[in-house]
Amino acid sequence: MSSEKPCILVTGGAGYIGSHTVLALLQAGYEVIILDNLVYGHRDLVENVLKVELIEGDTGDRPLLDNLFSTRNIAAVMHFSAYAYVGESVTDPAKYYRNNVVGTLTLLEAMLAASIKKFVFSSTCATYGVPEVVPIPEDHPQNPINPYGATKLMVERILSDFDNAYDLKSVRFRYFNAAGADPQGRLGEDHNPETHLIPLVLQTALGKREFISIFGTDYPTPDGTCIRDYIHVNDLADAHVLGLKYLLDGGDSEVFNLGNGNGFSVKEVIETAKLVTGREISVKECDRRPGDPPSLIGSGDKARKILNWQPQYSSLKDILVHSWQWHQQRHK
Ligand SMILES: NC(=O)c1ccc[n+]([C@@H]2O[C@H](COP(=O)([O-])OP(=O)(O)OC[C@H]3O[C@@H](n4cnc5c(N)ncnc54)[C@H](O)[C@@H]3O)[C@@H](O)[C@H]2O)c1
Repeated sequence: MSSEKPCILVTGGAGYIGSHTVLALLQAGYEVIILDNLVYGHRDLVENVLKVELIEGDTGDRPLLDNLFSTRNIAAVMHFSAYAYVGESVTDPAKYYRNNVVGTLTLLEAMLAASIKKFVFSSTCATYGVPEVVPIPEDHPQNPINPYGATKLMVERILSDFDNAYDLKSVRFRYFNAAGADPQGRLGEDHNPETHLIPLVLQTALGKREFISIFGTDYPTPDGTCIRDYIHVNDLADAHVLGLKYLLDGGDSEVFNLGNGNGFSVKEVIETAKLVTGREISVKECDRRPGDPPSLIGSGDKARKILNWQPQYSSLKDILVHSWQWHQQRHK
């Protein structure tokens, strides 16, 4: 890296994964500008913890983007902003196609107009749909089973077409289940509404919820509950810094899974949470939800090999310890 710090635009940087990545970018010496419309992001975390410039605006706002790209020397864009509620994407797909696809297209066109051609994209394991093999490799067929996954797959397709036509280089990261929190307790997961298992379990431990629902106990897994791959948010953040460096060093477009290669069942998560919190956590066993595959595990081998990614926090206990520390202080 030259002595001048490259400036990176981070969309959705006031959200969960984006904010942890901004911290990692700052630690790696980059300058950061956040673009977030704060529909779900947290101004307090940007102002008190990240202390970087926050532009409150929307990725679909072309005049705002043109002004930003023509007045600031931005080397690359990291694009976290999207809507990510699978259930809502089924009942209100227009909202998802507009934000996740049209908003991203607007952003990409504004980038091209300003000759910015490096892009790091938050894709998802939801683009694979029901897996044929686990751990899932990157060349697994992509057949999303909900509009959310379809929006992310469409952007992946746009990115490969834009590379062919306009030489826009991208790293597409397909995350498995982001989990955990900054080990120093400065940042963490605070979605509202919350749908992710670990925060829901910890909110139950805190007494904010009466019980945690287990959807399906008759899956073909060792304890009958669904198995998911939980990847620590700091490990995700590190991968983004490596992916960015790869692009800035002239790397070609690539796609990487970001997963642990290891899965944990819903019951294992709840049992580990009981140990970590020292509290009772009531559960309610319910019917399966439609569209939940028994097991979703991702192979992170390609990112390890090409980006030299070395996840630090692969144990479920670490993930829960960090999340618990965050939840206790955030939800006092
Ligand atoms: N959390 C996970 O487990 C997970 C898994 C796979 C993929 N992803 C993807 O990772 C990304 C980040 O997820 P997250 O959990 O941090 O979500 P989040 O909701 O915490 O963060 C998204 C941020 O984007 C902002 N935003 C949304 N639409 C915007 C727009 N049009 N313009 C500007 N800002 C906008 C929101 O205010 C929010 O701060 C998303 O693209 C999501 O689809 C997340």
